[in-house]
Formats: sequence, C-alpha cells, structure tokens
Amino acid sequence: MQLTISEILYLQGFGTRRVCAGLIQQGWLTVYGQACTDASAEFVPEGLAFTVQGQPWVAHAKAYLMLHKPAGTECSKKPSAWPSIYTLLPAPLRQRPVKGGQPGVQPVGRLDQDTTGLLLLSDDGAFLHRLTSPKHHVPKVYEVTTKHPVDPRQVARLVEGVVLEDDPKPVRAAACEATAECALRLTLTEGKYHQVKRMLAAVGNRVEGLHRSRIGGLALPADLAPGQWRWLEPEDLDRLRQSQG
Ligand code: URA
Repeated sequence: MQLTISEILYLQGFGTRRVCAGLIQQGWLTVYGQACTDASAEFVPEGLAFTVQGQPWVAHAKAYLMLHKPAGTECSKKPSAWPSIYTLLPAPLRQRPVKGGQPGVQPVGRLDQDTTGLLLLSDDGAFLHRLTSPKHHVPKVYEVTTKHPVDPRQVARLVEGVVLEDDPKPVRAAACEATAECALRLTLTEGKYHQVKRMLAAVGNRVEGLHRSRIGGLALPADLAPGQWRWLEPEDLDRLRQSQG
C-alpha cells in the first residue's frame, strides 16, 4: 500500500503532520537521492530510503532495534538521576506517534542504571510481550562480576532455587557456571526487579558488575560499542523467534 511522503515522515517520527509537510515544502527532503518537494507524492513505505535535513533514514513500519546499554543510564523516558537511554536514540525513534493502543518505542524489560549490555527496543506490543512474559521462557544471559569468590555451593543453590526477600516463590537460574574466581554466567527465563542482584545476595555474595550478553539466540555483537544502536535484521528476529518456548 502506498502512502504520501508527508504521512510516511509523520509515521516515522519526524514531527506532526504539519511539521512534516513544512519540511518537505521547504526542500529538506530527498528520496532515493532525489530532491522531493511534493508532500503528496506517494511511495511504498517499508524500506523507503530518504534523507531529512541531512539525516538518512530507512522507513520501518515497526521499530525493532538493539542498543548496547552503557553504565550510568536509566531505561526510562523520565529518569530520576541518570541520563535516559532514549538520549542515545535518534529523535524520530523517540517521537514516533503512539496509535491504536500500541506503545511508543519501549525497552524489552529494564536494566538497572549500572547494568550494561544488550537491550532490545520496539514499538510492537506483541513482540514486547512475547520477550518479557515468563510464559515464553526466553533465556537472558548475564555475565556477573562478584565481590567474593564464587563457591560451587552458591552455583548449585542458584540453579536449585533461592527465596528472595518479599517474594515467597523460589526463583532459579536456568543455567549457571563460574567463569573466573569472581565471575559467573547466569541464565534467567524471567525478569523480576533486581533479580540477579537479589539472587546473588540470597546466596551470600554480591554483584559488583552486571552485563547482559544474550537474549535467546541473539548475542550482543562485538562491534556494537557501548551507547550504539542498530536496527534488528530479519535474521536477528528469526533467532529471537526460535528462542521462544
Ligand atoms: N538483574 C538485576 O539485578 N539487574 C539488572 O539490571 C538485570 C537483571
């Protein structure tokens, strides 16, 4: 289905319909490298490559992206103490119109301010639900640096299950292995508040550093530096789909 270029810019988050029409009429738009000043010109939106005020963009009906979350950022639009992760995303992703009960671009679960690593974001409500619901058992892998040396009994207890404060139901790691004297790799299929930190505290250790390296079949790419983001490729989405139980 074709849409006017003005509507495409609006849906991609370049501002209100009026702002988008103004950008086009004032000559700030090129489509496939050609100047376009006709706001009513029609195109197939998905995959359309254009530039607005020098910013290159490829239209995506739904946003699926990954961010290498750096330490010292909050996963909230209204952060309380640290800069928001949204400051790391381009304005159109922050400004996408919210319609039909769909959320704006949201993180798939939250990481603590001091946690680093793989964070997925999307404005597809079903996708967000599938990846966060404990029913789907999507494994999330955390690299944990601990304050005290890791004891094999701690590893065993984390897999058998531990009871967290204020939560009667035991939680268990789907997998856990020591990776160094003061480091372990923990796989969780649910995401309770501060879960890794509370689990480590429950076995008498303490988290000094926390990094999420993988969600389902998708690993944080080595070439995505802290603070950088990129669109998910169709293969990335396939890998995530295959990891949903
Ligand atoms: N568990 C935590 O304690 N913190 C995180 O950021 C993620 C999982």
